[in-house]
Amino acid sequence: MEQENQKWKSSRGFILALTGAAVGLGNIWRFPYMAGEGGGSAFLLLYLAFVILLGLPLMLSEIGIGKVARNTPLASIGLIAKKSNASSSWKFIAYLGLVTLFFILSFYSVVAGWSLAYFGKVVSGEFLGKSPEQVGQIFGVFTQDWKLLLACHTIFMILTMGVVASGVTKGLERLNNFLMPLLYLILILLVVYAATTDGFSTAMNWLFYPKWENLSWKVTLDAMGHAFFTLALGATALMAYGAYMPERQSLPKAVGFVAFLDVLVALLVGIAIFSIVFTNGLSPSSGPGLMFVTLPIAFGKVDGGSILGAAFFLLLLFATWTSSINLAEPMVATLAKKLKSRLKATIFAGLGVWAFGILSALSFNLLAKFYPLDFVLPEKTIFDIVSSIPSDLFLTIGGLLTGIFAVRVVSKNDMLKVLNNNERFYGVWKFLVTFVATPLLIVVLFMGFKNIFFS
Ligand code: TRP
Repeated sequence: MEQENQKWKSSRGFILALTGAAVGLGNIWRFPYMAGEGGGSAFLLLYLAFVILLGLPLMLSEIGIGKVARNTPLASIGLIAKKSNASSSWKFIAYLGLVTLFFILSFYSVVAGWSLAYFGKVVSGEFLGKSPEQVGQIFGVFTQDWKLLLACHTIFMILTMGVVASGVTKGLERLNNFLMPLLYLILILLVVYAATTDGFSTAMNWLFYPKWENLSWKVTLDAMGHAFFTLALGATALMAYGAYMPERQSLPKAVGFVAFLDVLVALLVGIAIFSIVFTNGLSPSSGPGLMFVTLPIAFGKVDGGSILGAAFFLLLLFATWTSSINLAEPMVATLAKKLKSRLKATIFAGLGVWAFGILSALSFNLLAKFYPLDFVLPEKTIFDIVSSIPSDLFLTIGGLLTGIFAVRVVSKNDMLKVLNNNERFYGVWKFLVTFVATPLLIVVLFMGFKNIFFS
C-alpha cells in the first residue's frame, strides 16, 4: 500500500517533523498555566528533570521501535513481539496509545482553534489600549460564544485532516517549515519586551528560584505528564514518525536537538508570560486562559503590537497544526491498513475526534457546570478531565511500557543499530530506562494516582 512506503526525504525533513510534533500548545499554552498552577519553580525544575531523565531515554525507545519495524505502531509492536517470541499482549501499548491520542486531539483541536479567533481579534485591533481586566473579559466573552468555538474547532480539524489525508511526509514537507524559525524570532522579541517590564525580575525569580514548599505528588505527576505531553511521548505517535525515518540518520542527535529546542521554547514563553502577569498584577494560576489573557496585553501596548500579535497567532496556528498532524497519524495509519484507504481512514478518525471534541468546546459555556466524574474528580468539566488525565496517566503508563518493551523485547542487535552501533551509548540508554526511568515512573504514577483519586 502506498502510504506504508512513506519516508522523510532527508534528515532535515525528519528533524523538522519531530520538532513540529513536539513544539505546540504544550510549550506555549499548557506549560505556562500548569507552571502557574504548580507554583512556578517547583513545577519547572521537576519538568526539566523529567525531560532529561525520562524524556530522552524513552524518546530513543519509542522512535527506535518505529525505526526497527517500519510499520504502524500496532503492527510494529506485533511484529517485534512475534520475532522475539514475546506475548502479543504487548500490543496493548498501541491500543492505549490510540485511545490517548483520540482524547488529546479532541481537546487540542478546540484550543488550537482559539488562535484562529485570536488572530482575527488582534488584526482588528480589539486589544489596542485595553486594560488587563478588559483583555481578561474579552477571553471570558469569547469562550461563552459556543458557536464560534465550535466553528474554530471544526476549521482546525479540517486543516489537520486535510494534511493527514495526503500522507504526513508529503503533507508536512509541503507545509512551510521555515515558519517555525519565525515563531522563535517572535518569542525572542516577546522576551525582549518582557525584560523591559517591571515584573521581569519577579517572574525570573518565581520561575527559577527553587521553592520546594510548593512541592507535592500532584505537582510531581503533573510535571511528569507534561514532560511527556510536550515531547509528544508515550502514545506511539513518535513511533509512527520513527517508521518514516531515513535509514542513515542519527537518532540520538535528532532526539537531543528536539528536546533542547522544545524546552527552550517553553522557557521563552514562560518568561514572557509571567513578566506580563507580575507587571499587571494578574494571578499566575488563572488556568487554561492564561496565555490568552496575558500576551494580548503586550500586543495592545507596544508599537507594532498588532502586527506582532497577528504574526504570533498565525505562527501558533502552524505550530499547533504540525502537532495535531502528529497526534492524528497513528490513528489514521492504523485505520488505513484496516480500511485499505487512507482517505476513508482520515474521514472516519476525523469525524470521531471532531464529535468528541465538541464536548470540550462546550465545557466553557453550555456544559460549564457539568462534572461527569464529580465523585472522584470534583468540579472538573469534561475539558478539565480530557486535558489532564490522558496526559498525566495514559501517556506516562504508555511511556513506561514502551521503555520496558524496548529493553526487554526488542533484540539487542536491533536496538544497538538504532543507537548508532555504539555499545557504550546502548549501555547508558539501557541503564537509564531500567534503573532510572522505570522505577521513577512507577513511584510517581502510584503516588500521583493515589493523590488524584483518593485524597
Ligand atoms: N507535543 C505537542 C505539544 O506540545 C502535542 C503532541 C503532539 C502530543 N503529538 C503528541 C502529545 C503525541 C502527546 C502525544 O503541543
